[in-house]
Amino acid sequence: MLRIGALVSGGGTNLQAIIDAIANGYIPDTEISIVISNKKNAFALERASKVGINTRVIPRKNFSSTKDFDLALVEELHSNDVDLILLAGFMSILGPDFFTDFENRVMNIHPALIPAFSGPGYYGLKVHEAVLEYGCKLSGASVHFVTPEVDAGPLILQRSVGIETGDTPEILQKRIMEEAEWVIYPEAVRLFALGKLSVSGRQVSIKP
Ligand code: GRF
Repeated sequence: MLRIGALVSGGGTNLQAIIDAIANGYIPDTEISIVISNKKNAFALERASKVGINTRVIPRKNFSSTKDFDLALVEELHSNDVDLILLAGFMSILGPDFFTDFENRVMNIHPALIPAFSGPGYYGLKVHEAVLEYGCKLSGASVHFVTPEVDAGPLILQRSVGIETGDTPEILQKRIMEEAEWVIYPEAVRLFALGKLSVSGRQVSIKP
């Protein structure tokens, strides 16, 4: 049984997509053991509680350094014996201490085609505003393993979504979620659960 720990801060629609994909068997032999939020009012916590998943709130402001915050997260994840960590709209940047025990075991979803419109400062609607401002004809979403450098870890899956006339950042954000994020995040977790992902440097290969 693969045990997942999810880190969230907000609405949790990607978390919901993973919960649903486990429930309907698309992601086999897997459970979400703990959902940790750095924000006590995150709706993602309600989504988790509703289906009986344990939750914890660990606010960044309770710690004097990123290192202490990271270590508190790591301790909670270890005490739940997790094998895979999913960042699902987690709005705090993790330092190198977080990754020591979890190399290639932390995934994130980013709402653009990395390396475009990614890295520090590119989060939430800012990503989609920048894509539209630039005049792109395509955007999309990327699932990647997380490293201490923001949005720069090995790419697992990407899916493109076309820009349409009249798109606003809000409309584009919604379409990218529906057509890309909620599709490729469960798919990447399924591949991990099936043992089909292997990482060599920046390259992630998917076994047939
Ligand atoms: C998503 O757009 C995701 O790509 C980004 O943060 C947002 C989280 O949304 N990392 P939700 O909390 O999953 O609804």
